[in-house]
Amino acid sequence: MSDYKHWIIARDAENIAWLHLDKADSKVNLLAGEVIDELSNILDTLNSSPPQGIVIVSDKTDSFIFGADIKEFTSLKDAQQAGQFLQRGHDLMNKLEAMSCPTVSMIHGICLGGGTELSLACDYIVASNEDVTKIGLPEIKLGIHPGYGGTQRSIARCGPLPAMSIMLTGRMLAARAAKKMGLIDEITPLRQLKNAAVDYVMRAPKRKKPALLHRLSNQSWLRPLVAKQLRKQVAGKAKSEHYPAPYALINLWKRCAGNKKQMLAEEIHSVAQLAITPTARNLVRVFFLQETLKNLGKQLEYKAHNVHVIGGGIMGGDIAAWCAIQGYRVTVEDQSPERLAVTYKRAQNSFKKKFKRNRRAIRDANDRLIMDHRGHGIHTADLVIEAIFEDAEVKRSLYQRIEPLMKADAILATNTSSIMLEDLSSALQQPGRLVGLHFFNPVALMPLVEVIHGAQTDAAVIQKALAFTRDIGKLPLPTRSSPGFLVNRILMPYLLEAVIMVAEGIAPEAVDKAATDFGMPMGPIELADTVGLDICRNVASILSSTLGLALPASLGSMVDDGKLGKKSGQGFYRYNKGKAVKNKNAHYANMQELQDRLIFRLLNEAVACWRENIVENDDQVDAGVIFGTGFAPFRGGPIRHIRSEGSELLSTKLDQLEKNFGERYRQDAAWNDINS
Ligand code: NAI
Repeated sequence: MSDYKHWIIARDAENIAWLHLDKADSKVNLLAGEVIDELSNILDTLNSSPPQGIVIVSDKTDSFIFGADIKEFTSLKDAQQAGQFLQRGHDLMNKLEAMSCPTVSMIHGICLGGGTELSLACDYIVASNEDVTKIGLPEIKLGIHPGYGGTQRSIARCGPLPAMSIMLTGRMLAARAAKKMGLIDEITPLRQLKNAAVDYVMRAPKRKKPALLHRLSNQSWLRPLVAKQLRKQVAGKAKSEHYPAPYALINLWKRCAGNKKQMLAEEIHSVAQLAITPTARNLVRVFFLQETLKNLGKQLEYKAHNVHVIGGGIMGGDIAAWCAIQGYRVTVEDQSPERLAVTYKRAQNSFKKKFKRNRRAIRDANDRLIMDHRGHGIHTADLVIEAIFEDAEVKRSLYQRIEPLMKADAILATNTSSIMLEDLSSALQQPGRLVGLHFFNPVALMPLVEVIHGAQTDAAVIQKALAFTRDIGKLPLPTRSSPGFLVNRILMPYLLEAVIMVAEGIAPEAVDKAATDFGMPMGPIELADTVGLDICRNVASILSSTLGLALPASLGSMVDDGKLGKKSGQGFYRYNKGKAVKNKNAHYANMQELQDRLIFRLLNEAVACWRENIVENDDQVDAGVIFGTGFAPFRGGPIRHIRSEGSELLSTKLDQLEKNFGERYRQDAAWNDINS
């Protein structure tokens, strides 16, 4: 039988039916509507003359099934449509589960969401123990929870606590971890995977039950207690009014875990309701924004074989270590061996954090990272990344010295956070080779890199920088050289407003709470302390002249007194073992006003950047602010937020803020164009 568009069916000598999924016109397998319908027909046909067993397998290289087709998901208009959409998937999973012969899912590579749910509907799951194999139920990241029966079936397999931890975090598990949690039955090296699948079909062993403790926590008398505990854990990370999905998942389990049929039916209802919330719509949009940025790095085939980093400080050292982690051969140069010793030590910590106890991976990363006090690496580098002190004169004189040493076609990238590219490229014979690669601190955690192009940057150099950024696993955002670029420019007025509030006598805890209540991952005062108050002051003072920002005197005096924030143990907060000591009783009578004062400065600056085309379009403004600052993802970014709240309504609020707090709230000229 090969009359299907996406599936190939082969029966072997032992009468096992191998169902090969190879989604047409797609690099990866998605559980799209057509794929579901075809499989449903295949199962009907197989039912009429049952094979010895069924094995589901992917024909894509190193990947199994990435999940449902999210594009189909975005077209759902209302809960009723969403319900019908989900029912189709449920019907398939129920049919698969009810097959009279043994069914096996044979996983190699990425298996996510609907792919995992399909596997859970099989009798057995075997997976390769290769590094590429990762299994998860990441729906929560899109503002929903599993909706093809995965809630009930994952809990039935591993027990509520392991299954909830997989679904509530949405994290991907390595095959070994998935086996340990009971999500899958067997792991084997890739070469033995087929044998393992055949073995399960032939033996059809009784499946192990979850451990007693896990079965106990599924009992109706214990569920309310466990659910309360789970809700408490979730509340520490996400508020229910911002992210309803985790709470809906816990409730679903608490109410229905005793009755499989009911749980499956209510799962559909729950996901159908969640799918149409603004949170889900915005999170899906954020997912696509991320894909768009990744694609920007795909326009050109480019590989920098050797990378040379100059300046092994906080940023340069971490960038070099990150590149080594990503498989690049990197040389790092600094002013003295003593400084490089510090760079080396930091890199060891980064490697350990990344690779944990995988000594071989740590050794390999170490082999790729070379401390290069004399700067020999410059001669062979395809890409030179400069991350020395933030001083235009010092940077220019470095460029004059190194340019003659660089290969003719090598790119020079600067990590400057505030100097215009044009101020630096003037020192070069070939100004077109200079591009900005603005990483954020901490490098290992921040997904965004602004790829800055000046008036003279060659188009091909920009494309190469985008490709490199993508290749090291970061999201590249092409940004025009302009004071503060995009992210710092939008962030700084918001941070400074927070500093002004504290100078007015408002407790830092109240200011931070106003921001986290809006959905920011961290309050602006704690963020300023984390970035370092000296760095904030430098960036703010550069921006203050061009953007007319008033620099609060308190910021300068704190830096002069050595209060630099977290790194010095004292900033706006005092730090104990790296944690801010906060006054839990601090409060302010009008929290809404604090929130408006903070957020409107950010929104207004975002509109200004949109008007000035600092990045190409409104999607990129939103993407930059979400991935560069952590701006409440469920709101979809500042421009999306203005549009969904209504620019007219917000502009009235902005006028009021201007009346109360002065000129810094003057509406940007483009505010009223945002909706057009
Ligand atoms: P840092 O002070 O930690 O490191 C600078 C390093 O450059 C020092 O180790 C210094 O010895 C070395 N250096 C100075 N002149 C040199 C030369 N001529 N040759 C070789 N090495 C030299 O500074 P940090 O924070 O790493 O900043 C570096 C650059 O990254 C700056 O342009 C800064 O604006 C930018 N940046 C900093 C961020 C931050 O949060 N720290 C964030 C994003 C960008």
